[in-house]
Amino acid sequence: MGRYFIETYGCQMNLADTETMCGILDGSGWSRTSEVKAADLIVVNTCSVREKAAERAIGHLQSMAALKKNRPELIIAIAGCLPQHRGPDLASRLPGVDLFIGPDNYRQLPEMLAGLTTPGSPGEHSGAGAAQGSDDGGELEQAKELDRFYLRPNKKETYGDINPVRERNVNAWISIMRGCDRLCTYCAVPLARGRERSLAAKDVIAAAETAVVDGFSAITLLGQAVTSYQDEGRDFTWLIDRLSRPSELRRLWFLSPHPADFNEEMLTLIGERPVFTRHLHLPLQAGSNEVLDRMRRGYTREEYLELVEMARRLIPDVAITTDIIVGFPGESAADFRATVSLMEAVRFDSAFMFAYSPRERTYSARFLEDDVPHEEKMARLREVIDLQEKHSWASYRALIGSTTEVLVKGPAKGEGERYFGRCRSNRATHFSVPEGKEPSPGDLVPVLVTDVTSHTLSGEMKIE
Ligand code: 5AD
Ligand code: SF4
Repeated sequence: MGRYFIETYGCQMNLADTETMCGILDGSGWSRTSEVKAADLIVVNTCSVREKAAERAIGHLQSMAALKKNRPELIIAIAGCLPQHRGPDLASRLPGVDLFIGPDNYRQLPEMLAGLTTPGSPGEHSGAGAAQGSDDGGELEQAKELDRFYLRPNKKETYGDINPVRERNVNAWISIMRGCDRLCTYCAVPLARGRERSLAAKDVIAAAETAVVDGFSAITLLGQAVTSYQDEGRDFTWLIDRLSRPSELRRLWFLSPHPADFNEEMLTLIGERPVFTRHLHLPLQAGSNEVLDRMRRGYTREEYLELVEMARRLIPDVAITTDIIVGFPGESAADFRATVSLMEAVRFDSAFMFAYSPRERTYSARFLEDDVPHEEKMARLREVIDLQEKHSWASYRALIGSTTEVLVKGPAKGEGERYFGRCRSNRATHFSVPEGKEPSPGDLVPVLVTDVTSHTLSGEMKIE
């Protein structure tokens, strides 16, 4: 065994998967290093959701593979959504990559590495039909090629029994479900992460209890459509009711919910229990009913607005953030205006905004023409970003003079004596601390907000 260096692109699910891979690798005798140069194995955990992120990871892997010139024994693996979604097609662009590992195949890491480090003992391969054996290479070449791919979907895999190795931090990520059955037409996730499956409730509860015993003050429940959680009749509301009862836990949050899954009972619970972070990320994607329908989002503009109204009524001071895609196939000028007007109506506290990019094998890439010209997509993107910047500023500025409860992460880097944390509604908060009152990571402290930017709060810790 040797040392491994692992790096993560993409969403929080991927960060959590990296922690799972670390658990599996550490458990089989490998040890982690933060120095690429010291590594015998490099794993890059990738994202396929948008073209840009995918290309960045590919470029990075190509430069990593160059390290093999001097160190031919170095093993390089691409893991996560990108190889699962596009692995075989990518192989020719990544000749230096030894292993292509999909999100359901991490459990096999020790075997596949043993297959590489011990000549003549191949690991179980995916049979993904990706072999490009050379004409004269015969069966051996072909077997070698197949041994690079571990891409077998496994709709039972939840890693519920694997102990992840968590970064020493205040927050523990817990993946409670994997995959997605919603099949939004633009989305690569179902192709990359497969069908939906949930961890057994007892495994989730045990993971949460372990995290608290291990000293984590906050838990974030993760899933591609986290609110679809389902284990033998126990749904997401049941689960968060169970996890939000009084305990040592100080903050409970979840990501990403689907707007169509909410109901009054769930929002009432979130509003009533003090442990919940008062922040809902509600991916909107588009404001026009025609576009929402072509995206197959499962809600209308009117239903989305009702949800926002209900959330704000039932959860005091809730921050609402979103994801928006502009330039979806067939998005007319009027459709785009509907997105803008919905943003105006809601005034999101912050948003991630993207130009549509067709993703291989998705419904929209196959059947809908990518007909909004690039310049038009960019102009629309610019417009929503500028609008959101105004809304974010206003939302943050309104907090000046208020006091918020901050979960302390630790000293703020490069800011002298100042500290960093997250306020009740999850906003990044930097604050000064009276001498002798330095808080510890994981403490909850009151902070008077004295200044803001469009993305952070700044203030002073109050002494009670
Ligand atoms: N093009 C642009 N943006 C996309 N997203 C997902 N797929 C695409 C795509 N094909 C965005 C959505 C999603 C976020 C994670 O990425 O807004 O919520
Ligand atoms: Fe990217 Fe989606 Fe995979 Fe996360 S699940 S890494 S967002 S493709």
